[in-house]
Amino acid sequence: MNILEFAARKNAGKKISMVTCYDHWSARILNESAVDTLLVGDSLAMVMHGFDSTVHATVDMMATHVAAVRRGAPDKFVVGDMPFLSVRKGLGQAMDAVGALMQAGSNSVKIEGAAGQLDIMAHIVESGVPVMGHLGLTPQSVEAFGGHKVQGRNEGAAAKIMDDAKAVEDTGCFALVLECVPAPLARTISEQLTIPTIGIGAGPDTDGQVLVLQDLLGMDDTFKPRFLRHYLEGKDSLLGALNSYHEDVVNLAFPSAAESYA
Ligand code: KIV
Repeated sequence: MNILEFAARKNAGKKISMVTCYDHWSARILNESAVDTLLVGDSLAMVMHGFDSTVHATVDMMATHVAAVRRGAPDKFVVGDMPFLSVRKGLGQAMDAVGALMQAGSNSVKIEGAAGQLDIMAHIVESGVPVMGHLGLTPQSVEAFGGHKVQGRNEGAAAKIMDDAKAVEDTGCFALVLECVPAPLARTISEQLTIPTIGIGAGPDTDGQVLVLQDLLGMDDTFKPRFLRHYLEGKDSLLGALNSYHEDVVNLAFPSAAESYA
């Protein structure tokens, strides 16, 4: 998939699949999969580094993970997340962050929010860098939201997200993530925008879907929000394999003669 296909998919009514990817070994597997596009999301601060929110992601951290993903998935369209405050410290710093992600191998950047940064988003687009927007539950604003909560539940909040979506489209963004908003609102936004929407916790009517890889693989059995479907019970599978290996080692069943050098 390349940048031109995002619009083409929407026009053809064909959905876009996106999955987060943070490291080289999963990138190699995803490169062989049918998944359309990879998001090096700042959720890596939580999933890979154990922080309690995405505000701990830095430009260096994001660039390191983008580079690892690019080496593993040379054929996929990669979106790199602009981390916490990286578009709020002035144009120069924002462009340095964009440069770091693009030189690490990203095909585009994703930016959370709208108000106060629309000019910078337009400047990035005009600089030749594809930008994906992100509205609804924007996790970098978790402190302002008072937690990871569904957004746009009342009329005023829904109208604000609708207006922001149009403003994001007007900056020249090529796609928009809608996270944790009511399905009817996501449907209305998707109908009114010409750019594709990619939903997570936003119902079935967005133009694509995105999930965190480790979530869809069931790696954390304590995390099961309503919107998440497990496509594997990955934690159980991994624990089973690791315990089998351990048993084989302690019972002298591994390695066998065939697994040893003569
Ligand atoms: O960082 C991330 O994983 C994201 C997705 C949840 C859209 O932004």
